[in-house]
Amino acid sequence: MRKPVIAGNWKMNKLVGEASELVAGLWEEISGQDAVEAVVCPPFVDLPSVGRLISERGMTLGLGAQNMHWEESGAFTGEVSPGMLTDLGVTHVIIGHSERRQLFGETDQGVNRKVTSAFEHGLQPIMCCGETLKQRESGQTEDVVSGQVKCGLFELPAEWVSGLVIAYEPIWAIGTGVAASTADAQEVCGYIRGLVAAEYDTGVAESVRIQYGGSVTPENISELMAMDDIDGALVGGASLKADVFSRIVMFS
Ligand code: PGA
Repeated sequence: MRKPVIAGNWKMNKLVGEASELVAGLWEEISGQDAVEAVVCPPFVDLPSVGRLISERGMTLGLGAQNMHWEESGAFTGEVSPGMLTDLGVTHVIIGHSERRQLFGETDQGVNRKVTSAFEHGLQPIMCCGETLKQRESGQTEDVVSGQVKCGLFELPAEWVSGLVIAYEPIWAIGTGVAASTADAQEVCGYIRGLVAAEYDTGVAESVRIQYGGSVTPENISELMAMDDIDGALVGGASLKADVFSRIVMFS
């Protein structure tokens, strides 16, 4: 049985005080649940205070970063290392989000190095992939996703891939209020599981967890989670309010 993993990607939102308020709200709504692996991914500067709150209150809530560098330290102005994250109690890290790829030039090779480094540091990577509207409309969805996933997984050992979280996020569904249909989301998530089976074996494919992301809300989460190959969600806008994100986490 794959445990569902639902992560809130706060993107570049929430000052330190606002971040604490949001997590305090989550504590009231979801503190006891453990049916789902729930994770919040605040901006870097909020990680210390959010991490402190999570541990003080004994919350079963993962703490995720939205990005990291693959190197341990060095002359990389503006970057944050995996060791800096684990030092703060960070447990998860989003890697290769489409906004990082489109706006900050992240490549599949960089994603592969970051995923490798995350595993080496005991962080749970959430590796993102997904196609643009143009690519979908021209029938390239599978080629694009397959390229991203295969390159992201390059030379990763099977034990790591078994523990990986892959987030399928069609770019046209992110922040638009138009989620993929459950059938379309299932189709691509099933395709990704098939890719993992072909690159590794069915055992690895059965344990990798695949999230859907893109305009997930309390209204569509149950239907998405009912799909065979959807094991969770990566949630942007709807993760910024405690009551809304809690309803997504408590979908069942
Ligand atoms: P959204 O963002 O839920 O606001 O569409 C999802 C994401 O970018 O991870």
